[in-house]
Amino acid sequence: ATAVAVTAATALLAACDGGFVGGGLPGVEEVPFTTPLAIPPLAPSRVEPDGTRVFELTAQEGSMPFVDGAETRTWGFNGDYLGPTLRAERGERVAVEVTNELGEATSVHWHGMHLPPEMDGGPHQMVEPGETWRPTWEIDQPAATLWYHPHPHGETERHVYQGLAGLFLLDDPEAAPDLPSQYGVDDIPVIVQDKQFDDAGQLTLEENQSEPGVLGQTVMVNGTVGPFLGVSTERVRLRLLNGSTARTYSFGFDDGRRFQLVGTDGGLLPAPHETTDVRLSPGERAEIVVAVTPGEQVTLRSSEPDLGRVASSAAFGGEDTFDVLELRADTMLAPSPPVPDVLADVPRIKESEAGVTRDFTLAVRQINGRSMDPERIDEVVHEGQTEIWEVRSIDSLPHNFHIHDVQFQVLDIGGEPPPPELMGWKDTVYLEPQRDYRLIMRFEDFTDADSPYMFHCHLLRHEDEGLMGQFVVVGEGESAPTTIDLDHDG
Ligand code: C2O
Ligand code: CU
Repeated sequence: ATAVAVTAATALLAACDGGFVGGGLPGVEEVPFTTPLAIPPLAPSRVEPDGTRVFELTAQEGSMPFVDGAETRTWGFNGDYLGPTLRAERGERVAVEVTNELGEATSVHWHGMHLPPEMDGGPHQMVEPGETWRPTWEIDQPAATLWYHPHPHGETERHVYQGLAGLFLLDDPEAAPDLPSQYGVDDIPVIVQDKQFDDAGQLTLEENQSEPGVLGQTVMVNGTVGPFLGVSTERVRLRLLNGSTARTYSFGFDDGRRFQLVGTDGGLLPAPHETTDVRLSPGERAEIVVAVTPGEQVTLRSSEPDLGRVASSAAFGGEDTFDVLELRADTMLAPSPPVPDVLADVPRIKESEAGVTRDFTLAVRQINGRSMDPERIDEVVHEGQTEIWEVRSIDSLPHNFHIHDVQFQVLDIGGEPPPPELMGWKDTVYLEPQRDYRLIMRFEDFTDADSPYMFHCHLLRHEDEGLMGQFVVVGEGESAPTTIDLDHDG
């Protein structure tokens, strides 16, 4: 099976050589930083008598003046583009009333959240036009920068690209080190996306295509093209989300300054990691703290990401270096405390705790030789079990790997211990080609043999074209299904 897959990959690459690779894709256009960075509003909520915090999200059509002279048709939650930032505390019960006012079905998935499968918002929890879906669950995981986005089968790329995405911040008052935390002041959401416009100024997924999707010539942050951020404090925390469908970024600053990486997908790191750059593939998050001096300007920049020894073509989002967000420091800055030396307790899950090891090989649009089938259960996991998932991409194409329900730890990569930036909780990890990533995780709390969670590549075109599988978590004595009955969905 492996040989066949490799051949297919080679064929696809050859096809790409004609269509995309090395064809001189136009790079990101430099624009002046003249527009104040939009900050997604914090979503209002109400608390019901039983203590449940309830948010409302409505998926709707809108328009944005992204490029000169054009009103670009967009989608957003509670607005024209993107959605409000949801925020809740560990231990709280939350509910979200998701209403679909679009002309087609969509779903909303809570990326990075530990929650029951029927609340997960994957392709089996579609919300039809005019309907409202109300998932509810208890927040039971560390403080983190999570996000939400649609997950309709085969349509995720288009729905996210049109603008449906937002942040979901989790706080833990009992484990809150002294980091900048005033939302919109010194704690800033930074949702980075690239877009391609057609001649009429509309978003297009047809032009400027690379193998995994569009590499847009326009980069925006929180929906702002050419953004600047006024900084009024000595240190600022940026919560970076790669909200692109295909492009991988390597974030740093134009003067090469060092900053502190304090958090990754599922929470804070054990200790800050001082560095000059952090690579984020689609879906990944990083929280960084950067210091500024009075009156200076410094720019968040993306440089060519190191995609591993094979996938290093411009067509995969490499090569170009471009500026993303200008920070403009006030001439008087309010003091910020230094970043604490210890951030969070992240107990390492021991390899010896794992009772099961599973293998996942990604090639072209398949995992272990199979494309996504919504009626097939690919893996059956037992509740309470610690597992090692050994994941590799045998393509020279870039992929990453995202698992629903759990936050995992990287045990090792190609037999080597993970680098400091991969020592915290992760739900999505970039797969350098031809390397073995051993991920360790514990499946707890939620079981349902009829309601699967997903695992997939988060390059959204890859996901849509089949690079996805399904697992269920079953309780003791429960049978292990191999199919699910889609009639009973939803
Ligand atoms: Cu961010 Cu399965 O998704
Ligand atoms: Cu992929």
